[in-house]
Amino acid sequence: MSLSAPTIRGRKRRHGSEPLVVVTAYDEPTTRLADAAGVDIILVGDSLANVVLGQDSTHHVTVEQMCHHVRAAAAAHPKAHLVADMPWLSYHVDTADSVRNAASLIRAGAHSVKLEGGVVRLPAVRALLDAEIPVMGHLGLTPQSVLAFGGFKVQGKTNEAVEVLIADALALEAEGIYAVVIEAVPSIVGSRITDALEIPTIGIGAGPDTDGQILVLHDLLGLSNRKSPTFVRRYAEIGVMITEAIAHYAQDVRSGEFPSAAETYPNPEGMVN
Ligand code: KIV
Repeated sequence: MSLSAPTIRGRKRRHGSEPLVVVTAYDEPTTRLADAAGVDIILVGDSLANVVLGQDSTHHVTVEQMCHHVRAAAAAHPKAHLVADMPWLSYHVDTADSVRNAASLIRAGAHSVKLEGGVVRLPAVRALLDAEIPVMGHLGLTPQSVLAFGGFKVQGKTNEAVEVLIADALALEAEGIYAVVIEAVPSIVGSRITDALEIPTIGIGAGPDTDGQILVLHDLLGLSNRKSPTFVRRYAEIGVMITEAIAHYAQDVRSGEFPSAAETYPNPEGMVN
C-alpha cells in the first residue's frame, strides 16, 4: 500500500515527524528510481512542460499529456504517494470540469492531485474533496501565474503579501487539503506559514523550516538545460555522464570495437559465409 494522503497530513515536524522528502518524476524509470531511494512523495509535476517537453512555461501541458505521464509513473507501483499536478485551465473553468479532469488523473494512477492558488480556488478544492479526491495546495511563486506575476519572482516580500499568503494557506487547510507546497518565498515566510498550519508544508525555495522539501528531479540530477534557480542543489551531473557514455558508444561503433563476439549471436551450425 502506498503512503496515503491522510498519513501525510499528520507529518508535521513540530509533532516529531521527519521532514517529508518529495521529488518530481515523469515516467516509469524515474519513478522507480526515486521510489527505490525511499522518497515519501513523487509529484508528476506540470514542470513536465519545461524539463521533458522543452517548453518555456507550464501553460503548454494538457490534461491528456499529464495523464500519459501519470500512467507511466504509476506503472512503477511506487510505495511513495503519487500526486499529479492539475495543469493550467483544468480547474479554472467550472467545478464539474475540474472534477472530471482530476478524475482522469486519478484513473491514470495518481493517488491525489495538486493545484495552484489560494482563496480563489476554494470552489474547485471543495468539489474535488466532495468527489473523494485528496488535494495538495501550492502557494507562493505558482508557475501557472507567471504571466500575471510578470515573471518568476520571489513572493511574500511585503507584510501585506505575507498576510495574504497565510490567509490563503489557512483557508485551503480549513477546506480540507492534506498538504501545501510553498514556492520561492523568503525563509521567514516559509517558517511563518508552517507555524500557522496543522497540515504539512513542503518547501521549494522556502527555507529550512518547512515540513518537507521538494526539488525537480532533472534539476537535482543535473539533467536540465535551464538555469537553476537559487534554491536548487545539484546532487549529480547525470547529463554529463549520459553524453560521455553515448560518445564512448559512438567511438566504439566507429572503430569496430562494438559489438564484440560476446555481444553477437553465434552462426548456426553449417552456415558459412
Ligand atoms: O511542477 C512542479 O514540478 C512543481 C514543483 C516545482 C513544486 O509544481
